[in-house]
Amino acid sequence: MTKPVNVEDFRTLARRRLPRMVFDYLEGGAEDEFGLQHNRRVFESVRFQPHRLVDVSARDISTNLLGKHQRVPVVIAPTGLNEIFWPKGDLVLARAAARFGIPFALSTASNASIEAVAKASDGELWFQLYVVHRKLAELLVKRALNSGYTTLILTTDVGVNGKRERDLRNGFGLPMKYSVRTIIDGALHPRWSFDLMRHGMPKLENFASDQVQDTELQAALMSRQMDASFSFDDLRWLRSLWPHKLLIKGLSRPTDAARCIELGADGVILSNHGGRQLDSAIAPLETLEETTARISAPVLLDSGIRRGSDVVKALALGASAVLLGRATLYGLAAKGGDGVDAVLEIMRDEIDRTLAQIGCPSVSRLSKDYLWRSGSADTRDTTAPRATNQLKEDA
Ligand SMILES: Cc1cc2nc3c(=O)[nH]c(=O)nc-3n(C[C@H](O)[C@H](O)[C@H](O)COP(=O)(O)O)c2cc1C
Repeated sequence: MTKPVNVEDFRTLARRRLPRMVFDYLEGGAEDEFGLQHNRRVFESVRFQPHRLVDVSARDISTNLLGKHQRVPVVIAPTGLNEIFWPKGDLVLARAAARFGIPFALSTASNASIEAVAKASDGELWFQLYVVHRKLAELLVKRALNSGYTTLILTTDVGVNGKRERDLRNGFGLPMKYSVRTIIDGALHPRWSFDLMRHGMPKLENFASDQVQDTELQAALMSRQMDASFSFDDLRWLRSLWPHKLLIKGLSRPTDAARCIELGADGVILSNHGGRQLDSAIAPLETLEETTARISAPVLLDSGIRRGSDVVKALALGASAVLLGRATLYGLAAKGGDGVDAVLEIMRDEIDRTLAQIGCPSVSRLSKDYLWRSGSADTRDTTAPRATNQLKEDA
């Protein structure tokens, strides 16, 4: 391939470098993967109705999110097992985010520990919490607090794991099991295999610390199941543990979003986990407007974002910012830090270019007015007088 110019090009490069089972883990959705496709369709179905003859010579794509200035209205989403895509994947993503002036969200299922990422990055760090066991959750939250993370994300859509059939077929899991198939797969992807041999099999470092030697916690970890009993009542408990910003991720209903805010959350993330959990779930974009109408706190969104124009569409429908999941992972898996930089650069350029094309000088000015809907303000107003040539009339 000549120089990759969009996220899809990085997806192609990632697929080439990764063994099939690793690419399938990155790419796969739940069951029939209709959700994965649906997320894209919904973005594609939203069209712009550009304003013309507007001065867009100076454009501003920065934003204020949760009281902090961000150079681009995107966040790197929490993703587990980043080191199977590239050596030190968590650190590579965190440093790239810092270079672009955006937050990086570290997953509970990260390969680098909470402390190691904090040490390696001088950018803004968020921590994503999976509640596997309450005692363990409390330990993780304290560690994130002591390490200077600014925002806690509670992920709520993994009460049970999604049925990811690619992973089931491939027998994917950590530690990776060797079989004739995986060895052949590895041999066909020598650059990836060489990196793995040099750096060793990734571990879940957050659980390797001495603090998790407790047998009850070890048993909870071994089961790899989330605590499916976690409910709104437990949100109060989590709120009491974390004094900084708290976001609730994985929501699909405006009423749930409102309840989270009432219980003390600072914002919500509409997400269907990138189509990896409930295959028939709605796409987050479909409930964005209703949610922003219901709550005044920030509403973030992810699932299916592959273009800067997708970011602009989400912001125009009321999102405060978006999270990138697979997009930045494609960059990471294809070319490490250079790949993540390139994907973020592409996103930044496409957001800016879209603003110029639709006649909007700043992301803070985006609204539904820039989107096409039959029945939008321009088409509805049939009572407006027909335009006449003022210069001719006045003469
Ligand atoms: C490989 C992979 C691992 C993920 N791991 C986590 C995780 O550990 N915690 C979490 O809250 N979400 C996780 N997610 C979901 C992302 O945070 C995000 O919601 C999703 O990727 C957005 O969709 P997109 O990939 O289409 O952008 C993961 C997603 C992928 C692709």
